[in-house]
Amino acid sequence: MRSTHITWQKGGITREQREQLLGQKSFCLWFTGLSGSGKSTLAATVEKELYKRGRLAYILDGDNIRHGLNGDLGFSEAERRENIRRVAELTRLFTDAGLIVLTAFISPFRAERQMARKSLEPGRFIEIYVRCPLEICEQRDVKGLYKKARSREIPDFTGISSPYEAPENPELVIDSGQLTESEAGDIIIQYLKDKGYLQE
Ligand code: ADX
Repeated sequence: MRSTHITWQKGGITREQREQLLGQKSFCLWFTGLSGSGKSTLAATVEKELYKRGRLAYILDGDNIRHGLNGDLGFSEAERRENIRRVAELTRLFTDAGLIVLTAFISPFRAERQMARKSLEPGRFIEIYVRCPLEICEQRDVKGLYKKARSREIPDFTGISSPYEAPENPELVIDSGQLTESEAGDIIIQYLKDKGYLQE
């Protein structure tokens, strides 16, 4: 940290009060997986399901955040680490605001995902591994990026020329290659109910 001589300013209202106002408990669903594995689509499905149940969730999505706040970052290892560090901070702030945060970032490195987990209280970080074989992501190639990565037009591409460290102990694994969007969404909602995150 380069900031010195700073003190933490307390607000007048606590997170618990904000949660009470919103009628929800805040937590984070951290989606991780290869590009094209379905993280963003799944986050959007879950967001809608939560909304239907009167819960306020907000998606932080890799492609979107990189248009603005993290527009200064590329895809080197150091920049990806910085990307996730900032997102972990955002997640901490947004959950403190009382929101349910759905993050959809490749987040390829265990260390940064662990850092994001540690920045929240125990139980508020739910890691969801959106597992999809590289071959399927590449075959789908929704954004046409795998083709460019293979031809070296895009360097450092996850799964091709940059590593992805699969989660070892995620709260949930979603095999997105084998499930429909709505089946995958149902599994997550059921998990949230079973674990007491969603009391209807
Ligand atoms: S992360 O690795 O730093 O977590 P992030 O989720 O923010 O990545 O961004 C990934 C998205 O950026 C991909 O879905 C893809 O659309 C785009 N992208 C552009 N270049 C790359 C690259 N070299 N590797 C992976 N994704 C890339």
